[in-house]
Amino acid sequence: MSVQSESTVTYTLQGSVGVAEISNPPVNAINRAVRSGLSAALDRAVSDPGAKALLIVSAGRVFMAGADITEFGGAAGGPTLQELEAALEAAPLPVVAAIQGMALGGGLELAMSCHYRIASPDAKLGLPEITLGLIPGAGGTQRLPRLIGAGHALDMMLSGAPISAAQGAERGLIDEVAAGDLREAAMVFCRRLVMEGQGPRPTRDLTVREALSDAVAAEALAKHARTIKGLTAPSLVVDAIKAASLPFDQGMRVEAKLADHSLELRESHALRHLFFAERLAGKTPGTSGDALAPIRTAAVIGAGTMGGGIAQAFADAGLSVILVDSEDAALKRGIETIRSNYAASVKRGRIDQPTADQRLGRITPSTNLADAGTADVVIEAVFEDMDIKKRVLRVLDALVPPERLIASNTSTLSVTELARATAHPRRFAGLHFFSPAHIMKLLEIVRGEDTAPQTLGVALQVSRVLKKIAVVANDGFGFIGNRMMLDGYFREAEQLMLEGASPGEVDSALERFGFAMGPQRVSDLGGTDVGTKARAQLYKRENRPDPYFVIADELTRLGRLGQKSGSGFYRYASGGRDALPDSDVSALIEQLAAQRGIVRRSIPEDEIVERCVLSLILMGARVLEEGIASRASDVDVVWTSGYGFPRHLGGPLFHADTLGLGSVAQRIRVYHSRYGHYWRPASLIDQLAAEGSGFVQWDQSRRRET
Ligand SMILES: NC(=O)c1ccc[n+]([C@@H]2O[C@H](COP(=O)([O-])OP(=O)(O)OC[C@H]3O[C@@H](n4cnc5c(N)ncnc54)[C@H](O)[C@@H]3O)[C@@H](O)[C@H]2O)c1
Repeated sequence: MSVQSESTVTYTLQGSVGVAEISNPPVNAINRAVRSGLSAALDRAVSDPGAKALLIVSAGRVFMAGADITEFGGAAGGPTLQELEAALEAAPLPVVAAIQGMALGGGLELAMSCHYRIASPDAKLGLPEITLGLIPGAGGTQRLPRLIGAGHALDMMLSGAPISAAQGAERGLIDEVAAGDLREAAMVFCRRLVMEGQGPRPTRDLTVREALSDAVAAEALAKHARTIKGLTAPSLVVDAIKAASLPFDQGMRVEAKLADHSLELRESHALRHLFFAERLAGKTPGTSGDALAPIRTAAVIGAGTMGGGIAQAFADAGLSVILVDSEDAALKRGIETIRSNYAASVKRGRIDQPTADQRLGRITPSTNLADAGTADVVIEAVFEDMDIKKRVLRVLDALVPPERLIASNTSTLSVTELARATAHPRRFAGLHFFSPAHIMKLLEIVRGEDTAPQTLGVALQVSRVLKKIAVVANDGFGFIGNRMMLDGYFREAEQLMLEGASPGEVDSALERFGFAMGPQRVSDLGGTDVGTKARAQLYKRENRPDPYFVIADELTRLGRLGQKSGSGFYRYASGGRDALPDSDVSALIEQLAAQRGIVRRSIPEDEIVERCVLSLILMGARVLEEGIASRASDVDVVWTSGYGFPRHLGGPLFHADTLGLGSVAQRIRVYHSRYGHYWRPASLIDQLAAEGSGFVQWDQSRRRET
């Protein structure tokens, strides 16, 4: 046993119970040291004449959050998890897992190879492998159906979401939910086993009560269709669970084969890429995390769509918020919206009434800007107007001590220019939330030219407090996300419509590609006027040649604002959400195309997808070249967590690597020769293509350099 594993897992004899304690902070990820340590602890218990049972406990608040993902696919050394589990299951003395906090993935698989399980009442038990495009590969697909039945097991593995200790007990996964202290309850449990002479109870010896039928499998796949869209792993899970009806060792062999296959799938590489990309996104060079004071209170200025949502996000995270609006009526409306959001959450059973009351109680409405002066961070979300924002920011700058963060939620204006309207531009940054701000996970942090490293540190701290995925962007037209949307994806969708594709054809093609909603449906949902106004602001920064959103802008001019006005790119039956094709829109598009001399034709679905996706990739490369984004993986995070790009493809730039940059570069040239301007090739793509490299490698080589 290595020194490291000795300190990672300790063995002590307490009365008649050998206790193995795992300590691998922060979440007891199962790595080589944990596996070797537990294996050694088992050997000690077996050879210890005083030990009549072995109890596995964890230090800290988490039993085990899963296998150490950094060891995936590599030669990790020590016993494999499967070998360790087999040894635990075959032990001649009863082995008990005391599940504190959570047992996820490999953590739950290990617990299932123990003979008994006792859990703390707050424990969460789950197999989230599917979220990485994988199937459980350490016996999970064989032991879980034996314990809780094939149907429940499939449901857990397809959702990837954990169940509670109480649900676990009800289904037979947990033998006892500890009433008081888990460690004490587990000792009592073990002593009782010893006293009653209860021996080992290997899960492998159980039989699956009812084999998984095709009908049950189909029902479960349909139930989880939204979350498993585009993934192969769900069908592998089904095959593995069916194999649980075979003798155990045979089933394990099937699982091993299927699990290996899932590791090789491009989609699991894509999802693991995003897993690391999201964690990396918050670590940005040029950030200082030194001596950051805790954030306890926030002030949000502007109680409109965004301000209200941002205030709610802070309240949900447990902070006190002052919500300021200059208009009393707007403030009341803002609070009313928040109140009804909470009421809806209570109705759906997401939170209970006391929690809703408590959260709402954290928000203090005010019409006095001076009330923002005491907050730890201040976020401005007033009208998108340079002069109004500058005025508000100057007042705030004078009120708020200069070491505190003042941020703007602008989506179009120059953060540098806004900052320079104040006396302390260094403490200023953009915090670009997405609508609805209390739900959307992405937060684009915009670094102005003067933003200090310390300010960026605080902005990242805000993202952590709010449990958002932060990406740092430099200042520029549309930052990362909107720039790619406007100059790339949505613009190309408009071009396709001018050339002959209907809004429905474009949307359906992209939805089949994997987007939750096509661009026109997105515009109608958000309001065509919102885009028109944002672009009008952006044109003050840079102009764009025609045709640029001529259809959307014309719809706005005609008062066809989308769902809210009953018509936009589509028409809607009164109050309905079903997007119905509208011949008036077809006529309008034909007219706009004719004005530009565009010859219309029928456009195949492949071309729609290729052009929209390639233009997204091209603009992704452009924001990297221009230094707006600092990592290709950041671009992928922005588009998967903020704009609905299919996660199983890993984001636009990971997907570009999958397509091969050589062919991406070549296709861009084809479209450039046809359309010019917007398709101007990106030298970064050409360079990487020439080197036979890709965006993932480019990120890696730059990381090595820093
Ligand atoms: N709507 C979106 O989807 C979205 C997304 C990202 C960012 N943004 C940005 O968020 C900001 C707010 O947008 P919104 O959609 O919430 O606008 P909104 O019109 O819904 O709300 C703006 C609020 O600011 C208040 N206000 C105006 N001047 C004020 C002042 N001087 N002092 C205090 N309050 C004042 C108004 O009364 C109004 O309630 C804008 O900068 C916008 O670009 C919007």
